[in-house]
Amino acid sequence: MNDEMAIAALRQGDTATFHHWARVLLGQFVSGQRKMPAISHPLEFVCIPVYRSGADGLCVHLWDADNHTGPAAPTAIHAHSWDLLSYVLMGTVRNELFDVFDDRTTPDDRVYEVLSRGDLDETRPTDRLVRHALRSMHEHCAGTVYSLQSGRYHRSSYSGPTVTIVYGFNHDTGRNVFLGPLSGGAPFSRRAPCSAAELSRCKELLDTVARAC
Ligand SMILES: [Fe+2]
Repeated sequence: MNDEMAIAALRQGDTATFHHWARVLLGQFVSGQRKMPAISHPLEFVCIPVYRSGADGLCVHLWDADNHTGPAAPTAIHAHSWDLLSYVLMGTVRNELFDVFDDRTTPDDRVYEVLSRGDLDETRPTDRLVRHALRSMHEHCAGTVYSLQSGRYHRSSYSGPTVTIVYGFNHDTGRNVFLGPLSGGAPFSRRAPCSAAELSRCKELLDTVARAC
């Protein structure tokens, strides 16, 4: 089965077929049959790009406390320019969803836009001042799929080592944004390739998942 067929299975809700493909994929990473261009993401997880064509993208995401060496995220509440479907292979993902209101009188946060060029993410403050309020919290355990629409403000956390496979559909009109300090400022962050030690730990974790699931 190729990557396009796996995406189709996920979109159709055929998790059994997608799970089988995922096990094979992880085995190929571990054996070296497939290259593993893992990068350390500023939002504190490791991302392994798997497939990209037009608006479609597929990545493996790993959250592993022992493997995090990258910079801390500027903020954890953010919204993507892309719709996502995420299949949880191992662990538990907790998503908090937030309502965000314009408020120029007593704001909590400023909205920042993320502009990506190559491996450089530039964060630019916008004029938008807001408050945020928790709307709901959802936990997603291994073997389940969750979806998130573009523009939906959320904050993700995890319990234990967690591996997901994320399908994203990018919208040309959307923006990647996050909530940050009112004072402004324009920090930069880079998505850095994982070190040899991080890659080794990733393979160890993926091997554990491939054998267990
Ligand atoms: Fe996110």
